[in-house]
Amino acid sequence: MKLAITILPGDGIGPEVVAEAMKTLDAVASKFGHETETTPYPFGSAGYDASGKGFPDETRDACTSAPAIFLGSVGDPRHDHLPPNERPELALLALRRLIDSFANLRPVISQFVSPTSPFKPETLEGVDLLIVRELTGGLYFGEPRGISGEGEDRQAVNTLTYHTKEIVRVARVAFEAAKGRRRHVTSVDKANVLETSKLWREVVTEVAKDYPDITLEHMLVDRAAMELVAKPSKIDVLLTSNLFGDILSDEASMLAGSLGMLPSASLGGAVGLYEPVHGSAPDIVGKGLANPIGAIASLAMMLRYTFELEDEARAVERAIESALAKGYITSDLALEGKGRSTEEVGDHIAKSVRNA
Ligand code: IPM
Ligand code: MN
Repeated sequence: MKLAITILPGDGIGPEVVAEAMKTLDAVASKFGHETETTPYPFGSAGYDASGKGFPDETRDACTSAPAIFLGSVGDPRHDHLPPNERPELALLALRRLIDSFANLRPVISQFVSPTSPFKPETLEGVDLLIVRELTGGLYFGEPRGISGEGEDRQAVNTLTYHTKEIVRVARVAFEAAKGRRRHVTSVDKANVLETSKLWREVVTEVAKDYPDITLEHMLVDRAAMELVAKPSKIDVLLTSNLFGDILSDEASMLAGSLGMLPSASLGGAVGLYEPVHGSAPDIVGKGLANPIGAIASLAMMLRYTFELEDEARAVERAIESALAKGYITSDLALEGKGRSTEEVGDHIAKSVRNA
């Protein structure tokens, strides 16, 4: 099979973790007899540097011409001075909208307990949850938005809007995912305060009627934030809006030991977008400290969801598990001085795919 992928290394540690993921992709291709076609394009701050735009036209065209996009991360402090409507992060939001990837899947599994984990092993036992985050609506995209006025009259506005159809389609993704799991959906909102959440709750309840063998539970977001760290193993599929999902997924990443561990798939349209949940981490760029596992696990999601290569996806996941079991972990997971470099972890995972 030919695996055509648009590569957006992006900024900060993005290119470093993407390079490691590409080693694993090569290993998968040679082991399972696939051909790859991977073309990198500038995006985010790198896009600004290349052509004065976070989302250059050439990159935009490439993003709709292959079935999958593999992204590192976006954001560079050099561009922090830009006004909100020119920030490189907007390129990522524009990309999500362009390919209509309204459902963001962020699985959290605690296969191993890192010595740096703040959690007790018994809290982590059996944690296997999937965050389904709405990705192309809500507060990130609502109009009107902007900052206006001067001095004490200076004010800012953002708008939170959800349409029924936007809630229906992402809710379906959550219920479908629950079918192959523990058949439980926790829908997270703030229905005691927000109208958008009242509608969210109504619509999700309605969609649930099509899935009689799946249990639906509604939970307020503040309680969900607490439950995620108190009893994380009780959560199966967590369905929520764009901003709540952004915040809760960073929180949940600590269950896996580090934000560097979490992969994601953004689905819904014709093209799938795969990226680690972590950001560009400018403070550790070029030091060999970046954890490539979030990126490599995102590659596994790409093999599974876009190319429907389940055996290949499993092979990558097993290689990640073996790296963790053998202590091939970066310093975010290891005790002081015991961490391996980004490359060492990446090489180890690629090698175990090859040798599997
Ligand atoms: C994420 C990131 C992005 C988001 C930023 C970079 C715009 O934090 O993918 O979680 O908030 O969606
Ligand atoms: Mn985030």
